[in-house]
Amino acid sequence: MPEHLTQDTPPKRSRRRQKKPAETAIAFVDKLNYDGSGVARVNGKVTFIEGALPGERVLFGYEKRRESYDAGRAIEIITASPDRVLNPPCPYFGTCGGCALQHFQSDAQISAKEQVLRESLEHIGKVRPENWVAPLRGPAWGYRRKARLGVRHVPKKGGILVGFREHKRSFITPLADCKILDPRFARLLPILPGLISQLSRPNRIPQIEVAAGDHEAALVFRHLDPLTPQDHERLRRFGQDHTVQIHLQPGGLESVHPLWPEQPPSLAYRLPEHDVEIQFTPTDFTQVNADVNRRMVGRALDWLDPQPNERILDLFCGVGNFTLPLARRSLSVVALEWDAALLERARANAARNSITNVEFRRADLDAEASHAPWNDDRVEKLLLDPPRSGAIEAIKRLPADGPQRIVYVSCYPATLARDSDYLVHALGYRLMRACVMDMFPHTAHAESMALFVRE
Ligand SMILES: C[S@@+](CC[C@H](N)C(=O)[O-])C[C@H]1O[C@@H](n2cnc3c(N)ncnc32)[C@H](O)[C@@H]1O
Repeated sequence: MPEHLTQDTPPKRSRRRQKKPAETAIAFVDKLNYDGSGVARVNGKVTFIEGALPGERVLFGYEKRRESYDAGRAIEIITASPDRVLNPPCPYFGTCGGCALQHFQSDAQISAKEQVLRESLEHIGKVRPENWVAPLRGPAWGYRRKARLGVRHVPKKGGILVGFREHKRSFITPLADCKILDPRFARLLPILPGLISQLSRPNRIPQIEVAAGDHEAALVFRHLDPLTPQDHERLRRFGQDHTVQIHLQPGGLESVHPLWPEQPPSLAYRLPEHDVEIQFTPTDFTQVNADVNRRMVGRALDWLDPQPNERILDLFCGVGNFTLPLARRSLSVVALEWDAALLERARANAARNSITNVEFRRADLDAEASHAPWNDDRVEKLLLDPPRSGAIEAIKRLPADGPQRIVYVSCYPATLARDSDYLVHALGYRLMRACVMDMFPHTAHAESMALFVRE
């Protein structure tokens, strides 16, 4: 045990308010679960233990008993992992739900995520990549360019609270700083409660979305009641004083509109290796970690290896993050997406970058239709980047003589593993390469990429 950790040092996570567990036990933790908890076998039963790391012996309290598994929380670390971080840099770690792994060294976090992917592929998909490629890394702190901050009015806690939700709870952790948030937003955290308190109906602002491009940063205030002219003036002044765009959202996503500046410059990020600039609005889906995204697009293109005479299919294309770089290196790209607003942005992005060899189409790629109109076009290569639910319906509709090469970008190992099973065992692809990517350091999210090749 490291000398700075005594037997009775409680893990940070155990500090938050909670009922005393009725029953405790000692466990040896084998590995990390996909949600960041430790996995142990206690009397032969799988047990998930929050706050415990692989290789640790812990005393834990039971919180949930189910037929097939139990769950609990570490009370005491008896033997600590050498990878345990004793003093996570963020004072809110353990309460705030924004991070789950600050108590684990960064290198160990990404190795554990690789292990989660490896086991998911083996157990769920019954597949093994022929090569593991080194994880793709980026900055460990200050990387998060997009987030939704919760706002609550809690008079007995001093009024307005702004922050992320607590882990597995609906309470807000009021934050005066955040180590993973882009500093352009982290610096505003101590002053946002004061701003909202001065509005006419402070308790009618439930959330603030933050979104940044390379040069511009924006705040989107959701408001449930109309704002007064004085509210507008206060918000405008805040934007001017802190050089941040202010947008308002009185209703659904379609209601979002700028307050200051009246005609703000678009949010945008560049992918310089591909001579592409992607513009987006503050509520569009974009990858949260710009640095890792740049490397991810580069690796995806290396693996897919598009050629000037090849036609490419890009499924779940969003604002064109992979589409436009692919178009630069191929004959043509057909790109599909369900969200009409994102498609509109993607088309505008292609035009702005003078890219004309792309056709964007709207399609529900989850629909269980027997005929997929997008499959009428023969393509040599496919890139897909689905949401957590994966892409099984789209994959099932690949034609028998489908693409020779597929790059699958995934934000959820379990669905990548399920879909890999189908690609390998039903369609005959080989899983040539896989890697994890450190898109969300200190959180439990695991982003990964896999290359499938048809002989
Ligand atoms: C992980 S994002 C990837 C977006 C884009 N490739 C990027 O890198 O920014 C997944 C995308 O799938 C889209 N999507 C979700 N469900 C869909 C469906 N059923 N059919 C088509 N697109 C869908 C979302 O709107 C989102 O743009």
